[in-house]
Parts: sequence; structure tokens; C-alpha cells
Amino acid sequence: MKTTTAVSDRINADIDHFTLPVEWDTDAIVARREKYYAASQRAFVPYRTPLIFKRGQDQYLWDEKGNQYLDCLSQNLCVSIGYNNPAVTAAVQYQATQIQHCTTMFFHPVPAHFAEELTAKFPAGEEWVVHFMNSGAEAIDFALLLARAHTGNNDIVSLANAYHGATFGAQSVTGISNFRHNISLLNGIQFAPNPDQYRGIHGEGVEPYLDDLNRTIQFGTSGHIAGMFFEPIQGYGGIVPLPQGYLSGAFDRVRAAGGLCIVDEVQSGFGRTGEGYWSFSSHAVIPDIVVLAKGIGNGYPLGAVVAKRHIAEAMANKFYFNTYGANPVSCSAGRAVLKVIDDCDLIDNARQVGAALLEVLIKMKSKYDIIGDVRGRGLMMAAELVIDRDTKQPATEEMDQLFQLTRKHGLVASKSGAHKNVLRICPPLCIQMEDVLFFEQAIDQSFADLYAGKIT
Ligand SMILES: Cc1ncc(COP(=O)(O)O)c(C=O)c1O
Repeated sequence: MKTTTAVSDRINADIDHFTLPVEWDTDAIVARREKYYAASQRAFVPYRTPLIFKRGQDQYLWDEKGNQYLDCLSQNLCVSIGYNNPAVTAAVQYQATQIQHCTTMFFHPVPAHFAEELTAKFPAGEEWVVHFMNSGAEAIDFALLLARAHTGNNDIVSLANAYHGATFGAQSVTGISNFRHNISLLNGIQFAPNPDQYRGIHGEGVEPYLDDLNRTIQFGTSGHIAGMFFEPIQGYGGIVPLPQGYLSGAFDRVRAAGGLCIVDEVQSGFGRTGEGYWSFSSHAVIPDIVVLAKGIGNGYPLGAVVAKRHIAEAMANKFYFNTYGANPVSCSAGRAVLKVIDDCDLIDNARQVGAALLEVLIKMKSKYDIIGDVRGRGLMMAAELVIDRDTKQPATEEMDQLFQLTRKHGLVASKSGAHKNVLRICPPLCIQMEDVLFFEQAIDQSFADLYAGKIT
């Protein structure tokens, strides 16, 4: 039998003809996007003028004009181990030349290897299994369905200020109005007050928030729940870590009401917090279901739900299918991500460089009183801007100005939080100690310009 077709032969004979041109002129890029992108894909643009990226290497980015940036956002935490990582690139290139997709109706070893390697990162003593999909929101939807299927209960609890994604299901458990549409979302979702130690309704402490959770379950549900969603560190909510003691106390309450404990590690997983692979591990809890995405594929589309086997069995006789789930190219990227994290000690790096970057933010707080709070763990940290440290009135306008200035000084960061007053710093795990000085100078200069009223 022939091994190539006439089509492949023709393309290979004149590959230049089939290599499509890309126009890198700034105005042309902006105009084409304006004309052909739907409003839903155009709208979410944080900078006042477009930022166009042409190339990335490790923790650095270059725009179309050749300006270099230190990346402190990792493409919304997707590029976990850095741009053009040679191990990931090689794995993806190889798999693309073999077979670029193999639906789970058929068998392929790569996703199964990845499932084995991934579950090995989960607490011993449990049998973990994986369902691969393509994004975080898809994984959240599946976790919600699985919890309802396993428990036979409908009610779900989530935390105020949570962000879990933009699909109907994920939006329904998202507790920030800016991210929800004015439509009927899923029924049976209740929100418990968030144990935010800076802005929470009870201030610092854990017990009052656990009492709130009791009340939410007792007065907002049938008393029998399917589960509760937690981000150990809320991401889009503005890097809000759950205080020690909350997760374990909440797990007890959720389980007493018949529910499953679902941890969303979409932002905080894969070593980002420098405390091991998963941020839940520092809370001495073992979840029932864990939701993964973003950093899992270093930018290649991939999401996963990892669950205890007996829980996942609830779907054994029900139809659920993601056409692209367990794509071998994405799973090859995922396998390389795990290997690089381990062999290059990136969790340790996240802890050490993260601590040094946090020190810089703490230093900035003592210098600039517009910073009300500095928090985070590992390479997931933030500075929250306030008009007044006593009233904690969010400095939203000032944050926007500072954000534009950080770009001018060579940083790519993000503004987040329900009030858009939080500077979120989440660089790729390969960031080095040598980058800390540049970071400090850039951030210091940005605040200095803000105070001097230098409007961009
Ligand atoms: C904590 C968390 N969960 C879920 C999601 C949804 O992921 P995706 O955007 O891949 O659908 C996000 C996305 O930002 C997230 O931050």
C-alpha cells in the first residue's frame, strides 16, 4: 500500500506555496481582528492600546516591534514552564508527525501514560482516575455533573468571589457579578461567604466563616448537597488564599451533608504555589475531585478532572464524550510538563523566586501607601491598591493607570479582583533570581510614575 496520498505529495513538492503568509503590520493586525472577531472575543482587552506578541522564550516575551517584556502573567497562567520549552516543543512536534488526534473511541498509549503519570502526583492511598477535556470550564462542568451523578443530590455550594469559568455550568458556580450574565444559570447553586482575610465580612479568622457555611447549607439547601467548589487561592478573585483551617473545616461540613469536596487547581496547580504539585496539599486535606487546566499543557489546550475511582464510576453507564478529549498532542505536552517540573526542580524554584518577588512587593508596600495588601504563595501573588488603608476603598482607576505603566516599564501583569484593583503577578515557573532586580526596578518605577502623575 502507498504511504502518502497525491495531496501530500503535491504539498511536499511545493511547501512554500502552502505556507500561508502572516501580516505583522500593527494596524493591519488590529484592523483584521476588529473586522473578523466576534464582539465576545474582542471585548476582553486590558491594555488601552493593543499588545501584540510575536515571540516568547522561557519567561520573556517580544512584541511585534521587538520590545522585550518579563512575563508575569504566563498567558493567564497557561504557560506554566515557559515559552518554547524545548522538551514540550519536541514532544508536540514528534506527536504531530505521528497522529494528531485519536478520539477515545479508539485506543492510544500517550493519554493513558499521561493519566498514569498525572495520578502518581496525587495523594497515595487513593485510586485516582482521569477524564481529559480541553479547558477549565469544561472540566468544571464535568465535575459538577459528576458530583450530582455520584451523590444523587442537586445542591452545590460555591464561594463568593470565586471564578470557575464562562460556560453555563462554570458561570453558575462563579461568585463575581462581572463574570456572570443576566440570564437563568443552573439551579441549586448557593454561595457561602468568602473567608477573605483582608476584605471578608468577618475580617480575619476561620470559625465565623465556617459558621457561615453551616448556615448556607442549613438555610440555602435541602441539607443534602452534591458538593462544594473551592479554589485554594482564588485567582481572578484577586489572589485570595483560603486561610489555614478553612478547607479542612469546610470539607467536614460538606461531607456531613453528603457532598463531595471539589478543588479547582486550574490556576494554583502544577507547582505554582511552590508547596508541591497542588495547593490543597498545604491544607492537609484530600479532595474527592480535582479540576485541572491551564498550566497542565503549557499553553496547549488541555483540561482534566481527576477523581477517586469509585466516584468517577458514577458515569460508567451514562453518555459523556469530548471529541477532543485526551488528544495525544496535548497529552504529549502534558507529559513533558511533568517531566520538566520534576527534573528542573521548578516547584522549588517557584517557592524561592516567588518568595523573592513577594519581598519586592512587601518593600513596595512600605514605600507606597496606595498598596493596602500584599499576599500570595510561590509564583501566585498580588498587591491590592486602595485609596485609603483604613477604609480599603478600592483604587480601581489608579490600578488601571499603574497597570498601563508596568507595561511601559517592561512587565506583563494583570489587574484582577472583583474591583479590578489587584495587580496579579504569576510568572512562568522558570523565572530566575536574576529577573528579580529587573522586576523590582520596573515595579518601583511604575509606582513612582503613578505618584508623579505621569499618565500613559
Ligand atoms: C480557577 C479557574 N477555574 C476555571 C477556569 C476556567 O478555565 P478556562 O478558561 O480554560 O475555561 C479558570 C479560568 O481562568 C480559572 O481561573
